[in-house]
Amino acid sequence: MDANKLRADFPVLQSSRAIYFDSACTSLKPRAVIDAEAAYYSELSACAGRSHHALAKRTDEKFAASRERIAKFVGAKPDELVFTKNTSEGLNLVIRSLNYSSRKKVVATPLEHHSLLLPIMEQKRRGIVNMEMLRVLPDGTIDEASLSAIDRSTALVAIHHTTNTTGMRAPLEKIVKAAHDAGAMVLIDGAQGVPHSRVDFRKLGADFLAFSGHKMCGPTGIGCLVGKKEAFEKLDTFIVGGETVETVSLNEVKWKAAPKRFEAGIQNYAGAIGLAAACDYLAKAGMENIEKHEREMAGKLISAIQSIPNSTIYGSTSAPRCALVSFNLKGVPPHQAALMADSLSKIALRSGVFCAEPGANALGFGKGAVRASLYLYNTEEEVRTFAETMQKIAKIG
Ligand code: ALA
Repeated sequence: MDANKLRADFPVLQSSRAIYFDSACTSLKPRAVIDAEAAYYSELSACAGRSHHALAKRTDEKFAASRERIAKFVGAKPDELVFTKNTSEGLNLVIRSLNYSSRKKVVATPLEHHSLLLPIMEQKRRGIVNMEMLRVLPDGTIDEASLSAIDRSTALVAIHHTTNTTGMRAPLEKIVKAAHDAGAMVLIDGAQGVPHSRVDFRKLGADFLAFSGHKMCGPTGIGCLVGKKEAFEKLDTFIVGGETVETVSLNEVKWKAAPKRFEAGIQNYAGAIGLAAACDYLAKAGMENIEKHEREMAGKLISAIQSIPNSTIYGSTSAPRCALVSFNLKGVPPHQAALMADSLSKIALRSGVFCAEPGANALGFGKGAVRASLYLYNTEEEVRTFAETMQKIAKIG
Protein backbone atom coordinates (compact mmCIF):
# COMPACT_ATOMS: atom_id res chain seq x y z
CA MET A 1 0.00 0.00 0.00
CA ASP A 2 1.40 3.36 -1.04
CA ALA A 3 -0.14 6.25 0.94
CA ASN A 4 1.29 8.78 -1.51
CA LYS A 5 -0.55 7.11 -4.39
CA LEU A 6 -3.83 6.71 -2.46
CA ARG A 7 -3.96 10.44 -1.79
CA ALA A 8 -5.05 11.08 -5.37
CA ASP A 9 -8.32 9.26 -4.56
CA PHE A 10 -9.36 11.87 -1.97
CA PRO A 11 -10.69 15.08 -3.55
CA VAL A 12 -10.41 17.10 -0.32
CA LEU A 13 -6.67 16.52 -0.22
CA GLN A 14 -6.40 18.05 -3.69
CA SER A 15 -8.65 21.04 -3.00
CA SER A 16 -7.57 21.99 0.54
CA ARG A 17 -3.89 20.90 0.66
CA ALA A 18 -4.49 20.29 4.41
CA ILE A 19 -2.47 17.87 6.51
CA TYR A 20 -5.47 16.00 7.76
CA PHE A 21 -4.74 14.47 11.18
CA ASP A 22 -8.33 14.29 12.43
CA SER A 23 -9.51 10.96 11.05
CA ALA A 24 -10.66 9.65 14.45
CA CYS A 25 -13.26 12.42 14.34
CA THR A 26 -14.22 11.69 10.76
CA SER A 27 -12.19 10.31 7.88
CA LEU A 28 -11.86 11.75 4.40
CA LYS A 29 -13.93 10.16 1.63
CA PRO A 30 -12.50 8.79 -1.63
CA ARG A 31 -14.00 9.63 -5.00
CA ALA A 32 -15.39 6.06 -5.36
CA VAL A 33 -17.55 6.56 -2.26
CA ILE A 34 -18.72 10.02 -3.27
CA ASP A 35 -19.67 8.70 -6.72
CA ALA A 36 -21.46 5.62 -5.36
CA GLU A 37 -23.54 7.75 -3.04
CA ALA A 38 -24.35 10.30 -5.76
CA ALA A 39 -25.30 7.50 -8.19
CA TYR A 40 -28.13 6.44 -5.88
CA TYR A 41 -29.64 9.92 -6.15
CA SER A 42 -29.05 10.35 -9.87
CA GLU A 43 -29.94 6.82 -11.00
CA LEU A 44 -32.42 5.44 -8.45
CA SER A 45 -33.73 7.80 -5.78
CA ALA A 46 -36.44 5.27 -4.85
CA CYS A 47 -37.25 3.29 -1.70
CA ALA A 48 -36.56 -0.37 -0.93
CA GLY A 49 -38.84 -3.08 0.46
CA ARG A 50 -42.13 -1.40 -0.35
CA SER A 51 -43.04 -0.47 -3.92
CA HIS A 52 -43.02 -2.80 -6.92
CA HIS A 53 -41.88 -0.53 -9.75
CA ALA A 54 -38.55 -0.98 -11.53
CA LEU A 55 -36.65 1.78 -9.70
CA ALA A 56 -37.77 0.41 -6.33
CA LYS A 57 -36.74 -3.08 -7.34
CA ARG A 58 -33.27 -1.89 -8.32
CA THR A 59 -32.98 0.04 -5.05
CA ASP A 60 -33.97 -3.14 -3.21
CA GLU A 61 -31.21 -5.06 -4.97
CA LYS A 62 -28.58 -2.37 -4.38
CA PHE A 63 -29.53 -2.02 -0.71
CA ALA A 64 -29.40 -5.79 -0.15
CA ALA A 65 -26.09 -6.10 -2.00
CA SER A 66 -24.64 -3.27 0.13
CA ARG A 67 -25.72 -5.01 3.32
CA GLU A 68 -24.04 -8.18 2.08
CA ARG A 69 -20.74 -6.44 1.22
CA ILE A 70 -20.55 -4.54 4.52
CA ALA A 71 -21.43 -7.64 6.56
CA LYS A 72 -18.73 -9.61 4.73
CA PHE A 73 -16.20 -6.87 5.47
CA VAL A 74 -16.65 -7.46 9.22
CA GLY A 75 -17.06 -11.25 9.01
CA ALA A 76 -20.82 -11.29 9.62
CA LYS A 77 -23.89 -12.56 7.77
CA PRO A 78 -26.20 -10.04 6.04
CA ASP A 79 -29.11 -10.76 8.38
CA GLU A 80 -26.82 -10.02 11.34
CA LEU A 81 -26.42 -6.39 10.23
CA VAL A 82 -28.81 -3.59 11.22
CA PHE A 83 -28.32 -0.21 9.57
CA THR A 84 -28.19 2.68 12.04
CA LYS A 85 -27.31 6.34 11.84
CA ASN A 86 -23.93 5.87 13.52
CA THR A 87 -22.15 4.06 16.36
CA SER A 88 -24.00 6.11 18.98
CA GLU A 89 -27.34 4.83 17.72
CA GLY A 90 -26.13 1.21 17.72
CA LEU A 91 -24.86 1.53 21.30
CA ASN A 92 -28.07 3.20 22.45
CA LEU A 93 -30.13 0.53 20.71
CA VAL A 94 -28.53 -2.31 22.66
CA ILE A 95 -28.11 -0.60 26.01
CA ARG A 96 -31.64 0.79 26.06
CA SER A 97 -33.42 -2.27 24.65
CA LEU A 98 -31.83 -5.10 26.61
CA ASN A 99 -34.00 -6.80 29.20
CA TYR A 100 -32.50 -6.27 32.65
CA SER A 101 -35.21 -8.08 34.63
CA SER A 102 -32.97 -10.91 35.86
CA ARG A 103 -29.52 -9.24 35.73
CA LYS A 104 -29.01 -5.55 36.30
CA LYS A 105 -25.29 -4.93 36.12
CA VAL A 106 -23.61 -3.27 33.13
CA VAL A 107 -19.80 -3.28 33.13
CA ALA A 108 -17.74 -0.78 31.15
CA THR A 109 -14.49 1.18 31.57
CA PRO A 110 -13.91 4.88 32.28
CA LEU A 111 -12.16 5.07 28.89
CA GLU A 112 -15.39 4.76 26.94
CA HIS A 113 -16.76 7.40 24.62
CA HIS A 114 -19.75 9.37 25.97
CA SER A 115 -21.96 7.59 23.43
CA LEU A 116 -21.39 4.35 25.34
CA LEU A 117 -21.28 5.76 28.89
CA LEU A 118 -24.30 8.05 28.66
CA PRO A 119 -26.90 5.42 27.68
CA ILE A 120 -25.74 3.28 30.62
CA MET A 121 -25.88 6.29 32.93
CA GLU A 122 -29.36 7.11 31.66
CA GLN A 123 -30.52 3.55 32.38
CA LYS A 124 -28.95 3.88 35.82
CA ARG A 125 -30.72 7.19 36.47
CA ARG A 126 -33.99 5.46 35.70
CA GLY A 127 -33.18 2.68 38.19
CA ILE A 128 -32.97 0.07 35.41
CA VAL A 129 -29.29 -0.92 35.72
CA ASN A 130 -26.28 -0.78 38.06
CA MET A 131 -23.00 0.29 36.55
CA GLU A 132 -19.53 -0.96 37.44
CA MET A 133 -16.24 0.10 35.90
CA LEU A 134 -13.16 -1.98 35.14
CA ARG A 135 -10.02 -0.30 36.49
CA VAL A 136 -7.72 1.60 34.17
CA LEU A 137 -4.00 1.85 34.98
CA PRO A 138 -2.14 5.17 34.53
CA ASP A 139 -0.69 3.97 31.21
CA GLY A 140 -4.19 3.49 29.78
CA THR A 141 -4.24 -0.31 29.99
CA ILE A 142 -7.14 -2.13 31.61
CA ASP A 143 -6.24 -3.81 34.88
CA GLU A 144 -7.18 -7.40 34.12
CA ALA A 145 -7.53 -8.16 37.84
CA SER A 146 -10.64 -6.00 37.76
CA LEU A 147 -12.35 -8.39 35.31
CA SER A 148 -13.69 -10.00 38.50
CA ALA A 149 -16.34 -7.23 38.34
CA ILE A 150 -17.95 -9.34 35.60
CA ASP A 151 -20.06 -11.82 37.55
CA ARG A 152 -23.37 -13.65 37.43
CA SER A 153 -25.30 -10.44 38.08
CA THR A 154 -23.85 -8.89 34.90
CA ALA A 155 -26.23 -8.50 31.99
CA LEU A 156 -23.87 -6.69 29.64
CA VAL A 157 -20.22 -5.76 29.22
CA ALA A 158 -19.98 -2.72 26.95
CA ILE A 159 -16.48 -1.81 25.86
CA HIS A 160 -14.37 -0.18 23.15
CA HIS A 161 -12.37 -2.11 20.59
CA THR A 162 -9.88 0.79 20.33
CA THR A 163 -10.14 4.00 22.38
CA ASN A 164 -10.42 7.40 20.75
CA THR A 165 -8.14 8.89 23.43
CA THR A 166 -5.01 6.72 23.16
CA GLY A 167 -5.58 4.50 20.11
CA MET A 168 -4.92 1.45 22.32
CA ARG A 169 -7.00 -1.70 22.09
CA ALA A 170 -8.91 -3.42 24.87
CA PRO A 171 -7.94 -7.05 25.68
CA LEU A 172 -11.14 -8.25 24.04
CA GLU A 173 -10.38 -11.95 23.97
CA LYS A 174 -10.13 -12.06 27.76
CA ILE A 175 -13.09 -9.74 28.27
CA VAL A 176 -15.39 -11.70 25.95
CA LYS A 177 -14.39 -14.94 27.69
CA ALA A 178 -14.95 -13.50 31.17
CA ALA A 179 -18.36 -12.17 30.10
CA HIS A 180 -19.53 -15.35 28.45
CA ASP A 181 -18.26 -17.51 31.33
CA ALA A 182 -20.49 -15.40 33.59
CA GLY A 183 -23.43 -15.64 31.16
CA ALA A 184 -23.26 -11.93 30.25
CA MET A 185 -23.51 -10.41 26.78
CA VAL A 186 -20.81 -8.28 25.16
CA LEU A 187 -21.31 -5.09 23.15
CA ILE A 188 -18.25 -3.71 21.37
CA ASP A 189 -17.87 -0.09 20.34
CA GLY A 190 -16.01 -0.57 17.08
CA ALA A 191 -16.01 3.09 16.00
CA GLN A 192 -12.22 3.37 16.18
CA GLY A 193 -11.51 -0.33 15.61
CA VAL A 194 -13.30 -1.32 12.39
CA PRO A 195 -11.71 1.50 10.30
CA HIS A 196 -8.16 0.74 11.42
CA SER A 197 -7.79 -3.02 11.76
CA ARG A 198 -9.21 -6.27 10.46
CA VAL A 199 -12.23 -6.87 12.70
CA ASP A 200 -13.96 -10.22 12.30
CA PHE A 201 -17.23 -10.44 14.17
CA ARG A 202 -17.16 -14.26 14.32
CA LYS A 203 -13.59 -14.35 15.65
CA LEU A 204 -14.29 -11.61 18.20
CA GLY A 205 -17.07 -13.78 19.59
CA ALA A 206 -18.94 -10.75 20.96
CA ASP A 207 -22.72 -10.52 20.83
CA PHE A 208 -22.87 -7.05 19.28
CA LEU A 209 -20.53 -4.75 17.39
CA ALA A 210 -21.38 -1.14 16.53
CA PHE A 211 -19.50 1.09 14.08
CA SER A 212 -19.88 4.21 11.92
CA GLY A 213 -19.43 4.63 8.18
CA HIS A 214 -17.91 8.10 8.21
CA LYS A 215 -14.82 7.07 10.17
CA MET A 216 -13.95 4.41 7.57
CA CYS A 217 -14.04 6.45 4.37
CA GLY A 218 -17.83 6.11 4.11
CA PRO A 219 -20.59 8.72 4.23
CA THR A 220 -21.89 10.43 7.36
CA GLY A 221 -25.30 9.37 8.67
CA ILE A 222 -24.83 5.64 8.18
CA GLY A 223 -23.59 3.10 10.69
CA CYS A 224 -24.14 -0.53 11.58
CA LEU A 225 -25.03 -2.65 14.53
CA VAL A 226 -23.92 -6.22 13.93
CA GLY A 227 -25.34 -8.84 16.26
CA LYS A 228 -25.84 -12.56 16.62
CA LYS A 229 -29.38 -13.69 15.76
CA GLU A 230 -30.02 -14.95 19.29
CA ALA A 231 -28.62 -11.72 20.75
CA PHE A 232 -31.03 -9.57 18.71
CA GLU A 233 -33.86 -11.80 19.93
CA LYS A 234 -33.05 -10.70 23.49
CA LEU A 235 -33.64 -7.04 22.65
CA ASP A 236 -36.94 -5.26 22.97
CA THR A 237 -38.01 -2.91 20.16
CA PHE A 238 -36.24 0.44 19.85
CA ILE A 239 -37.44 2.86 17.15
CA VAL A 240 -40.54 1.35 15.54
CA GLY A 241 -42.45 2.19 12.38
CA GLY A 242 -42.85 1.23 8.73
CA GLU A 243 -41.29 -2.10 7.68
CA THR A 244 -40.57 -3.27 11.26
CA VAL A 245 -43.76 -5.36 11.38
CA GLU A 246 -45.35 -8.40 9.76
CA THR A 247 -48.91 -7.41 10.71
CA VAL A 248 -50.60 -4.74 12.82
CA SER A 249 -54.10 -4.55 14.24
CA LEU A 250 -55.05 -1.96 16.82
CA ASN A 251 -54.70 -4.64 19.49
CA GLU A 252 -51.73 -6.63 18.33
CA VAL A 253 -48.41 -6.31 16.51
CA LYS A 254 -46.39 -9.09 14.98
CA TRP A 255 -42.80 -7.86 14.67
CA LYS A 256 -40.38 -8.87 11.95
CA ALA A 257 -37.11 -10.53 12.91
CA ALA A 258 -33.83 -8.56 12.96
CA PRO A 259 -32.50 -6.74 11.06
CA LYS A 260 -35.87 -5.39 9.82
CA ARG A 261 -37.36 -5.12 13.33
CA PHE A 262 -34.81 -2.39 14.03
CA GLU A 263 -34.91 -0.52 10.72
CA ALA A 264 -37.95 1.72 10.97
CA GLY A 265 -38.93 3.99 8.10
CA ILE A 266 -37.21 4.86 4.86
CA GLN A 267 -33.55 4.03 5.17
CA ASN A 268 -30.35 5.84 4.24
CA TYR A 269 -29.98 3.93 0.95
CA ALA A 270 -27.38 6.33 -0.42
CA GLY A 271 -25.39 5.98 2.80
CA ALA A 272 -25.53 2.18 2.74
CA ILE A 273 -24.43 2.11 -0.91
CA GLY A 274 -21.63 4.58 -0.12
CA LEU A 275 -20.51 2.54 2.89
CA ALA A 276 -20.37 -0.63 0.79
CA ALA A 277 -18.13 1.27 -1.65
CA ALA A 278 -15.96 2.34 1.32
CA CYS A 279 -15.62 -1.30 2.43
CA ASP A 280 -14.57 -2.25 -1.09
CA TYR A 281 -12.06 0.59 -1.09
CA LEU A 282 -10.54 -0.43 2.26
CA ALA A 283 -10.52 -4.11 1.31
CA LYS A 284 -8.64 -3.24 -1.87
CA ALA A 285 -6.04 -1.27 0.10
CA GLY A 286 -5.94 -4.26 2.50
CA MET A 287 -6.76 -3.95 6.19
CA GLU A 288 -3.47 -5.65 7.13
CA ASN A 289 -1.60 -3.05 5.05
CA ILE A 290 -3.55 -0.24 6.71
CA GLU A 291 -2.71 -1.64 10.16
CA LYS A 292 0.96 -1.90 9.29
CA HIS A 293 1.03 1.64 7.87
CA GLU A 294 -0.67 2.97 11.00
CA ARG A 295 1.74 1.16 13.34
CA GLU A 296 4.62 2.82 11.51
CA MET A 297 2.94 6.23 11.59
CA ALA A 298 2.17 5.83 15.33
CA GLY A 299 5.87 5.13 15.98
CA LYS A 300 6.91 8.22 14.03
CA LEU A 301 4.32 10.42 15.75
CA ILE A 302 5.44 9.20 19.18
CA SER A 303 9.13 9.86 18.39
CA ALA A 304 8.28 13.31 17.02
CA ILE A 305 6.39 14.29 20.17
CA GLN A 306 8.93 12.69 22.53
CA SER A 307 11.68 14.80 20.98
CA ILE A 308 9.91 17.97 22.21
CA PRO A 309 11.13 18.86 25.73
CA ASN A 310 8.42 18.62 28.43
CA SER A 311 5.81 17.06 26.17
CA THR A 312 3.43 14.45 27.57
CA ILE A 313 1.94 11.55 25.62
CA TYR A 314 -1.12 9.85 27.10
CA GLY A 315 -1.29 6.07 27.22
CA SER A 316 1.47 3.52 26.87
CA THR A 317 4.04 4.36 24.21
CA SER A 318 5.08 0.71 23.92
CA ALA A 319 1.64 -0.96 23.59
CA PRO A 320 0.38 -1.37 20.02
CA ARG A 321 -1.91 1.44 18.93
CA CYS A 322 -3.45 2.73 15.74
CA ALA A 323 -2.00 5.97 14.37
CA LEU A 324 -3.57 8.07 17.09
CA VAL A 325 -1.68 10.01 19.76
CA SER A 326 -3.03 12.44 22.37
CA PHE A 327 -0.49 14.73 23.93
CA ASN A 328 0.22 18.09 25.55
CA LEU A 329 3.03 20.58 25.21
CA LYS A 330 4.00 22.21 28.49
CA GLY A 331 2.64 25.74 28.84
CA VAL A 332 0.59 25.66 25.60
CA PRO A 333 -3.17 25.20 26.07
CA PRO A 334 -4.37 22.39 23.75
CA HIS A 335 -6.84 24.49 21.74
CA GLN A 336 -4.13 27.09 21.17
CA ALA A 337 -1.66 24.43 20.01
CA ALA A 338 -4.23 23.01 17.57
CA LEU A 339 -5.15 26.45 16.21
CA MET A 340 -1.50 27.37 15.73
CA ALA A 341 -0.80 24.09 13.91
CA ASP A 342 -3.65 24.91 11.55
CA SER A 343 -2.54 28.48 10.90
CA LEU A 344 1.19 27.71 10.62
CA SER A 345 1.07 24.52 8.54
CA LYS A 346 -2.58 23.70 7.72
CA ILE A 347 -2.46 20.75 10.11
CA ALA A 348 -5.95 19.62 11.15
CA LEU A 349 -5.83 18.30 14.75
CA ARG A 350 -8.50 17.85 17.38
CA SER A 351 -8.14 19.31 20.88
CA GLY A 352 -10.22 18.92 24.05
CA VAL A 353 -11.43 15.81 25.87
CA PHE A 354 -12.69 14.02 22.73
CA CYS A 355 -16.22 13.25 24.04
CA ALA A 356 -14.59 10.98 26.60
CA GLU A 357 -14.29 13.17 29.69
CA PRO A 358 -14.03 10.40 32.32
CA GLY A 359 -11.32 8.79 30.18
CA ALA A 360 -9.46 12.09 29.85
CA ASN A 361 -9.56 12.43 33.64
CA ALA A 362 -8.38 8.85 34.16
CA LEU A 363 -5.46 9.42 31.80
CA GLY A 364 -4.51 12.77 33.35
CA PHE A 365 -5.72 15.30 30.78
CA GLY A 366 -9.00 16.41 32.31
CA LYS A 367 -8.35 19.93 31.01
CA GLY A 368 -7.82 18.67 27.48
CA ALA A 369 -5.11 17.48 25.12
CA VAL A 370 -4.19 17.70 21.45
CA ARG A 371 -4.89 14.66 19.30
CA ALA A 372 -3.29 13.61 16.03
CA SER A 373 -5.16 10.77 14.34
CA LEU A 374 -3.87 9.50 11.01
CA TYR A 375 -5.20 7.11 8.40
CA LEU A 376 -4.19 5.32 5.23
CA TYR A 377 -3.71 8.56 3.27
CA ASN A 378 -1.18 10.17 5.65
CA THR A 379 2.51 10.17 4.90
CA GLU A 380 5.89 10.34 6.61
CA GLU A 381 6.45 13.74 5.03
CA GLU A 382 3.33 15.05 6.76
CA VAL A 383 4.58 13.69 10.09
CA ARG A 384 7.86 15.54 9.50
CA THR A 385 5.99 18.82 8.94
CA PHE A 386 3.95 18.07 12.08
CA ALA A 387 7.17 17.50 14.07
CA GLU A 388 8.73 20.80 12.88
CA THR A 389 5.51 22.72 13.54
CA MET A 390 5.06 21.28 17.03
CA GLN A 391 8.68 22.15 17.86
CA LYS A 392 7.95 25.77 16.94
CA ILE A 393 4.68 25.84 18.92
CA ALA A 394 6.34 24.31 22.00
CA LYS A 395 8.77 27.23 22.12
CA ILE A 396 5.98 29.64 23.06
CA GLY A 397 5.20 27.53 26.18
N1 ALA B 1 -15.71 10.28 18.50
C1 ALA B 1 -15.13 11.19 17.59
C2 ALA B 1 -13.76 11.64 18.02
O1 ALA B 1 -13.15 11.01 18.83
C3 ALA B 1 -16.03 12.30 17.25
O2 ALA B 1 -13.29 12.65 17.57
